[in-house]
Order: sequence, then C-alpha cells, then structure tokens
Amino acid sequence: MPTSYLTTATSTEHKSFDKEDWSSAYCNVEKELNNAELNLSKGSIPKDLSGTFYRNGPGRLERGGKWVHHPFDGDGMIAAFKFKNGNVSLTNRFIRTKEWEEEEKEQKFLYRGVFGTQKEGGVLANAFDVRLKNIANTHVVKLGQELLALWEASSPYAVNPNTLETIGISNLKGVLKKDEAFSAHPHFDPGHHEEPRMVTFGVKTGPKSTIRLMEFSTEGKKAGSLLSDRKDSFKGFAFLHDFAITPNWAIFLQNAISFNPLPFLLGQKGAAQCLASQKNGAPKFLLIPRDSGKFAGESPTTVDAPQGFVFHHLNAWEENENINVDSIYYEDFPSIGPDDDFRQIDFDRLPEGILKRCQINPNKNKFTATTLSKQCCEFAMVNPLLEGKKARFSWMATAEKKEGNGPLQVIKKLDLFNNEEIIWSAAPRGFIGEPIFIPLNSSKVSEDQGWVIVLVWNSIRSGTDLVILDAKDLSEKAILEVPISIPHGLHGSWVEE
Ligand code: CO
Repeated sequence: MPTSYLTTATSTEHKSFDKEDWSSAYCNVEKELNNAELNLSKGSIPKDLSGTFYRNGPGRLERGGKWVHHPFDGDGMIAAFKFKNGNVSLTNRFIRTKEWEEEEKEQKFLYRGVFGTQKEGGVLANAFDVRLKNIANTHVVKLGQELLALWEASSPYAVNPNTLETIGISNLKGVLKKDEAFSAHPHFDPGHHEEPRMVTFGVKTGPKSTIRLMEFSTEGKKAGSLLSDRKDSFKGFAFLHDFAITPNWAIFLQNAISFNPLPFLLGQKGAAQCLASQKNGAPKFLLIPRDSGKFAGESPTTVDAPQGFVFHHLNAWEENENINVDSIYYEDFPSIGPDDDFRQIDFDRLPEGILKRCQINPNKNKFTATTLSKQCCEFAMVNPLLEGKKARFSWMATAEKKEGNGPLQVIKKLDLFNNEEIIWSAAPRGFIGEPIFIPLNSSKVSEDQGWVIVLVWNSIRSGTDLVILDAKDLSEKAILEVPISIPHGLHGSWVEE
C-alpha cells in the first residue's frame, strides 16, 4: 500500500479503506460562504494558477430525517475556488431551483428523484407523479457571461459566475424550448476549425431517439451564441450521458439498454431504476458529422460497438480512415435497487470501470477493442488543448486496488503511448473526486505540464481537502483544508482568469 498524507501512524493492516470512512462523506452542506479563506496545511499554492475551479455535486442528501435513495438525487451545490497570486478562496451556493425553494420551506421531499428517492406516503403517494425535479447537480461550465449548472434531463440553470447567485433556468438566448433536455457533458473544442467552440447535445428518447447536436461560440462578443444545430433520429431507446468529439465527428455510444417505465409510473421505482442492460443486445456507435467539419450536412453513420455499459469517454481522435475512442466500460448498468441503502453498497458486487480503446472503421462497419487499463477508473481526461486530437497523457481517478471495484482513492497519470503510469494515493483514509488537469498557460510546454486539482474527503477529520499536484510527476504542491464538508461530488471545470 503506498503511503499518503492520510495514512495514520496506527494503521498496520493492509486494508485499502473502511466503508464507514467512505460513507462518512455523505452529509449535508450546512453553510454557504463568500470568499472564505482556506487553511494551508502543506506546501504552497503555485502563483501561476490564476482562475476558478468550479465544482458541482449533491449538497443536500437528507431532509427532515429522510435520506435520498441515491446521492445523484441530491440538490446541486456549486463550490467555486478562486485562485489568485498564490491565494485561494471559496464561495459556495446551492442552486435555487424551484423545487429546492419549495422543499427548503417545507423541510421535506416534495418530489420524486430519478434515482429512486420517493415522497413520503408510500407507493400511492408516488404513483403517476411523473414530474421531473431538475436538481442541477451534475456539472458546471462557463458559457459566455453565464455559469451553467447542468442536469441532463432538463434545461440548465444560469448562475452568476462571481457570486454564484441563481439567475434562473436558461434557454440559452432562445435556443432551447421550455424544459428541453440539455446534456451535462459539453465538450470544448480547443479550435479544430480556427475558433474554439462548446459542442454539446440534448436527447429526446423513446422507441425512437433524437439527438440534437449544438455548437456554441465561446470567445469574444459572440460568446454564448449558437453556431450550428442539427437533429438526427435513431432507432431504439438511448441513454446518453456523455459523448466524444473529433474535428469532424460527434461520437455517441448507444448502450444496449432497455427502459420499462411501469414500476416508475406505479410509484415503485425511480425512472433510472427502470433501466436494465440487455444481455446480447446490440450496442452501437452513432457517428454524427459536425457542421464545422468536412462531412457537414452528411447523414450519420452507425457502427457496431462492444458489449458493456459506458457513462464516460476519455477522448477520441481521427487517424487515417479510423476513429479511435477511449471510454470507461462497465459489464452492466450499475444501479441501486429499491431495497438497498447506498451508504452500505458492497463494492465487490458492483462491476468496475475499465478503460478500453475502440478503433472504429466507419466505412467497413468494424471495430477493434483493446484494454488500456484494468484498474477500476472514472473521471478521466486529457490535456484540454488536445481534446479531439491524439494525446499522450491522461489523468484519472482510480480505486486503490489493481483489479475489481472500489471507491476512488488514487489519481493516476497514464501514458497512452506505452502504458507507463504514475500514481498519487489518498488511501486508506482519503477518497477523491474528479481530478482536473490545468495546463500551464504558455505555448512552449509539453502536454503534461501543469497541475492537477482535486477535492479529497479526509475521513480523519471528517472534512474536505483541496489538493494541488504537479501534473507531470503527481508530486504534492499544496494541501488545503476547505472550511465546509462537501460530499462525494460530480463534475467540475477550470475557468482561466
Ligand atoms: Co458524467
């Protein structure tokens, strides 16, 4: 076991974690702070780090003694860590969604959650209540003058980037219809066709699914304006959480999954609990030509894909006539059943996320899959300046052990050319969130120069630490104590000053 800053002197057993340590992170965020100082417990903050690290995730997991059924049903809370001149400060706010305001007033759950949280009153009180509670908890990105809190089944909430005050549901200057679905996984094209863009999608699903692919300007006076927009329909139900981009393609993986809405309608299950992997189903890659690329206006191409379930992709790039897509595959769709307690989950019974590469030949409807790493991983990224291009280095969160599922405790830098890896571990008593790579702001640097920042649940003091690493060798630059306790979260982004 590698030693970490959270290794206690008394721990002699070779155990990677205690479940109580891991589950102790599930707590409500009790305070909202304005520009609060963080306590530096080790090292110093790099002076070149200038910008804001925004992070979204569930911040309210319990009301009136009743817990959410799944942490993904927790209301969104954004934390903004502002870096300037070697200092960092924290502002955090819950997103004032309509439903959050109502539940805050009543101090109880008034809405069902997609992942199984039920209203009080049992099945009868929940049956036929199909209202969606937009909890704005999955990701946070800046587009134009607005910060967007994203939740994929509905429209984004706009938030003031400085104060984090909620502005309200945004239709993005008239682009979205009322409550239109807008993905929580936009991708930032660093300038494949001269200007940088935000590429994203919305999906309307059913027996036939329609993907709306949108590209937005991200710079200058036009920032936030829609540059291109297309809609394509496909056969079958589509659960699409993420996608990948290359200069010419938007790449989706349509998992072989079925949706039986009956238990949801009858008030027995949340909508996401009605999803099930289809054994021997027919997963497909859906390749949609980008309007900014050389196949603009052409029809999409469908190619067979490997079995398994994918939430997240690492990156994609084109090489000759092939498209390569690196993604994290699970053997099955992981869900928490109606009778399970999410704080008691048995990691050994859950499938692990395995990083695989698919080389797709769209002209021959063929793919070849190779495993890049068997170690259970999530939240993987390359240098954002290489998004959509061939990148050598990747950073990701992994379990401590080399095989099987486990909580995320380790940051791994993986060399995609030769499979060499470097790790930084918070085990046994630390649990990490999504690591964000921030490139050094200079043109004459190698692609792995910069920093990795991550929030760590420090179970020794039941609090959150902000950790800054050197991205090249994962050496510790600084460790800071965050003045609030933040539960295990979801996605975040870096906005350069
Ligand atoms: Co995600």
